[in-house]
Amino acid sequence: MSDTSPDLPTDQVFDDLLHEDRSFPPPPDFAAKANISDASLYEAANEDYLQYWTDQAAELDWFEPWEETLEWTPPHCKWFVGGKLNITHNCLDRHLETKPDATAILFEGEPGDQRKLTYRELHAETCKFANALKSLGITKGDRIAIYMPMVPEAAIAMLACARIGAIHSVVFGGFSADSLSDRINDSECKAVITADGGWRRGKFLPLKETTDTAVQATSSIEHVIVYQRDPSFDCPMTSGRDHWYHELVANASEDCPPEEMDAEDVLFILYTSGTTGKPKGIVHTTGGYSVTTYSTTKYIFDLKDDDIYWCTADVGWITGHSYIVYGPLQNGAQILMYEGAPNHPENDRFWEIVEKYKVTVFYTAPTAIRAFMKWGDDLPAKHDLSSLRLLGSVGEPINPEAWMWYNQHIGQNKCPIVDTWWQTETGAIMISGLPGHTTMKPGFAGPALPGIKATILDEDANEVTSGSGLLAITQPWPSMLRTLWGDDQRYIDTYFSKWNPSIYFPGDGAKRDDEGNFMVLGRVDDVLNVSGHRIGTMEVESALVDHPAVAESAVVGRAHDLKGQAIVAFVTVKGNTEMSDDLNNELRVHVADKIGAIARPDQIVFTADLPKTRSGKIMRRLLRDIAEGRAIGDTTTLADASVVASLQAQHADSEG
Ligand code: WTA
Repeated sequence: MSDTSPDLPTDQVFDDLLHEDRSFPPPPDFAAKANISDASLYEAANEDYLQYWTDQAAELDWFEPWEETLEWTPPHCKWFVGGKLNITHNCLDRHLETKPDATAILFEGEPGDQRKLTYRELHAETCKFANALKSLGITKGDRIAIYMPMVPEAAIAMLACARIGAIHSVVFGGFSADSLSDRINDSECKAVITADGGWRRGKFLPLKETTDTAVQATSSIEHVIVYQRDPSFDCPMTSGRDHWYHELVANASEDCPPEEMDAEDVLFILYTSGTTGKPKGIVHTTGGYSVTTYSTTKYIFDLKDDDIYWCTADVGWITGHSYIVYGPLQNGAQILMYEGAPNHPENDRFWEIVEKYKVTVFYTAPTAIRAFMKWGDDLPAKHDLSSLRLLGSVGEPINPEAWMWYNQHIGQNKCPIVDTWWQTETGAIMISGLPGHTTMKPGFAGPALPGIKATILDEDANEVTSGSGLLAITQPWPSMLRTLWGDDQRYIDTYFSKWNPSIYFPGDGAKRDDEGNFMVLGRVDDVLNVSGHRIGTMEVESALVDHPAVAESAVVGRAHDLKGQAIVAFVTVKGNTEMSDDLNNELRVHVADKIGAIARPDQIVFTADLPKTRSGKIMRRLLRDIAEGRAIGDTTTLADASVVASLQAQHADSEG
């Protein structure tokens, strides 16, 4: 293999699995009441997958029916062509007829404050804020950035945009000012909706101050709307440009008919990391996204009217979009939203919340599960978790040890676990078991969902029947990304050029068992997955070389027992700069300032040279070997072999 071809992730973490045959059929009590407990959906979808999606779509309200289910000109698709709808009608208005006083959102702030919004109230708040946006001149097609803490108004802001056809671009509140301004500039947002701040681990993070810094580096922002989270906080406001959220909605009307959106009108943009320094603006449209988030939520989370559903993601990520806001609301669910950290004030905050609200369906990330394992079995044991009936996992591979712990200590051996594989690009879950039907196996996400076709291919598009290969999606699906904002060529190159334009390349390595269950092994490109968050190695490298002392850098991932992957940066400095501990710390802080704390390198290794091939390419594979402390592979193409020995020594030093 050449050094530049993608290499498959090792599956050492799954070794324990290979020695034992563990399988968990759905608990009979669960299956008896499940929305789906047989293979009927798979059979229907196998027979005619377009009819399957047509039937799913027919469960939603449309203002006008579609004429054609799918128009597929690879790699571009249109779903439900000609159909008209508004996702907020299906999230809100529809439930006003059947259960206006049912709970839509239960909110717990990190300091312990609580709120509840019924569907009637959520509808009213959404309409008021939508009218407020209109009063500022915001109309269909305008791009609006949302940079908010995890408060109900974050969801209301998304819904209000969707109500009037404005395109939201939510930016995770942990991102830096630079990351925010880059995203605002890429899609020329007209307004940004933010807050004075939000609570995280006992601190009030001043989001508005970061927003002000970001907006200085933009030219398209006309309005900054500020939700007041803490009235005692002295928040800087710029007159003329800035508006308090509460003042805007104070006199706004509760009547705001939904904009009739074409099925293919853009609903939102969400940026995610790629293999270049520039994040990709993933574009999702209205019809297909509505249908797929609605149906996957119904079948995978098995929601019933009396469930209390808690997904611990942030609305700044796709999981928050699809499985806190749009999927659950379209299903009329009771959704719990929690603002803060899992370990504040104590490490059992999540279990305290489960007990307090009697959470029934709980969806979180393996990183969190591994942290809970480390914090001790006694913490969940202190709480009554008997309300739980279904657990989920998302964002990164879950190692079987963590799966077993989750099953025993949180699910108390009675809750099915759905390990859901999907991406920002796929919009909705693609691979997962159905909890009332599938026999779950730790480490395996399960089969492709009904209506989804996945397989494993090698570089030449041959099916891989044993061992690992590249995950491939071989048929279009309604919630697939439509393009990258402003860069359709990058869309084609990144996702549809690996094999042929009809096959989507997700960038993950995987293998499959005899029953068609997929085990997803991790990224095969230069994207890291740190605590379930995608971070491009190039983004971190650009942030490092932005520092005046840095000449060159190469960033790789290494396995980390809590975060999945840790960031290791190899750095060469300019001229006679001293490679001191102070500089090492300064660089780590610099990356956090440039991108956000999630991208702060775990380790920086100073080196006089980076290992390069004779043609000048950095040998990443070699750096990964060094970062992992593995025996060094083939170095025959290395320009200067002495570099490796000195790098190994430096790495050992910087770890010590
Ligand atoms: C990884 C998050 C293994 C994968 C929804 C994918 C997973 C990337 C799983 C997408 C899973 C997500 N098992 N790996 N259940 N879920 N991934 O866009 O590498 O933030 O490509 O979407 O996370 O991350 P994204």
